[in-house]
Amino acid sequence: MSANDLSPASITDNLGTSFIGQRVLCYPRLASTMDASRQEAQQGAAEGTVIIAGEQTEGRGRVKRLWLSPEGNIALSIILYPDVSFLSYLIMLASLAVAHTIEAVTGLKPQVKWPNDILVNGKKVCGILTEGEVKGSRVAYAVIGIGINVGLRIADISEISATATSLNDESGRNVSRLDVVRHLLVEIERLYLTLPAGESIYEEWRDRLVTLGKRVQVESGGGILEGIAESVDRSGALLIRHSDGASTRIVAGDVTLSG
Ligand code: BTN
Repeated sequence: MSANDLSPASITDNLGTSFIGQRVLCYPRLASTMDASRQEAQQGAAEGTVIIAGEQTEGRGRVKRLWLSPEGNIALSIILYPDVSFLSYLIMLASLAVAHTIEAVTGLKPQVKWPNDILVNGKKVCGILTEGEVKGSRVAYAVIGIGINVGLRIADISEISATATSLNDESGRNVSRLDVVRHLLVEIERLYLTLPAGESIYEEWRDRLVTLGKRVQVESGGGILEGIAESVDRSGALLIRHSDGASTRIVAGDVTLSG
C-alpha cells in the first residue's frame, strides 16, 4: 500500500480530531460499509469510528438503489450517537462537509442538490446515506455513509455517464483519496460539534441548495410531482408549490431539475 493510500494509520496520524476518525477500520472489500458499521455500533463501537471499504459488492444508495463502488473511489461510514434532536441535521452536515472538502482539496465548486447529492458541473460526484436506530427517545446509533467518486472513469460506465462524474475527471488530475478522507473527517467533527449551538447547519445547507427556486420533478412515493421547489424546513423536508397554488411537503424523493 503506498504512503498516499488509505490505511488506518495514514488517516489517523496527526488528524487533529478528538473522536471522528480516531478509530478507523479499512477493508479491501465489503458488501456495504453501512452493514459493517451497524454491526460495530451494535457491539458498542466508539463514537466517530470510521469504516472504509476499498470496494463494495453491495453498496447501496437511497431508495434501495445500488451504489457502484469500484476500487479507486471512497466508500466510508461513520458511527455516531447523537441526541435524537440532531438526527435530521446529520444529512445536512454531511452534505456541507463533503462540499467544503471538495472545494478545499480540489478547488472545484460543488453544489448540493436536495436532499443530499453533491454535484460538480451539474453531475453527481457524491451520494450520502444516513441510517440508524431510535429506541424510545434515544438514538441507539446513527451511521452516515458517504460515497465519493474519485478515480472512477465515468466514460467507461455508460449507465451513469450522463448524470455522474468523478473528482479526477472534473479536476483533470489524480486527486488524493487520503487528502479527501482526512479533510472530510475533520470537517464532519467540526460541524457536528456546532450542532448544540443551533441553526447554522440548517441555514448554510438551505442557502447552498441548488434546488430552491427551480422548477422540479420529484419522484416520491411511486408518483411524480411537479412544481417550483420553494423552501426546505428544519427537518430537511422540501416544499413544492404547484401551478394551481397548492403545495406538497416532501420528506424523501428524487429530484430532477427542469429549469
Ligand atoms: C445515494 O446517493 O443514493 C446515496 C449513496 C451512498 C453510498 C455510500 S458508499 C458508503 C456507504 N455504504 C453504502 O453501501 N452506501 C453508502
